[in-house]
Amino acid sequence: MQRTLAIIKPDAVQRRLIGKIINRFEEKGLEIIGLKKTVISEDLAKKNYSVHEGKDFFEKLIKFMTSGPVVILVLRGKNAIEVTRRLMGSTSGHEADPGTIRGDYAICGRFNLIHGSDSVESAEREISLFFDDTSIVESEKSDLKWIDGMSDDLTGENLV
Ligand code: RTP
Ligand code: MG
Repeated sequence: MQRTLAIIKPDAVQRRLIGKIINRFEEKGLEIIGLKKTVISEDLAKKNYSVHEGKDFFEKLIKFMTSGPVVILVLRGKNAIEVTRRLMGSTSGHEADPGTIRGDYAICGRFNLIHGSDSVESAEREISLFFDDTSIVESEKSDLKWIDGMSDDLTGENLV
């Protein structure tokens, strides 16, 4: 089962959108296995976004991400990385499709409410920046067979 890191960014926290955003991930069928509210240090923000170091927006991005509280989530589920990115929508709020988090609640490029890891490597690297193993709690939910289709008791099929 795949894991990914999501950060509810300072703009979303200030705009009281924490609940609405978490709700989208939960309703989709992702499990929240790590959760904390914190203010990210400059060092950790730079490590999280190291792929963008040197780009013209990098310093502004770091200033934004360290400007106030965020909520950091570890999400687990089938194709969690891609599913999370699709729920987020494309980077700029004004281009993101309606129905996505950014498409419904953001109109700006920089203040775009949510971060999500973009590959297995970056997910595992980013999770380890913010969580140690003891603060990640996984439990098998009884509804999982209806969500991931991996163990269909009704037909014995493996639904993908
Ligand atoms: P994220 O990493 O936050 O999940 O966003 P993303 O993959 O959709 O976009 P990415 O290209 O990784 O950009 C990281 C964040 O930098 C800000 N940004 N500002 N031209 C700009 O001013 C600019 N471009 C990107 C956004 O906050 C974006 O989410
Ligand atoms: Mg990115």
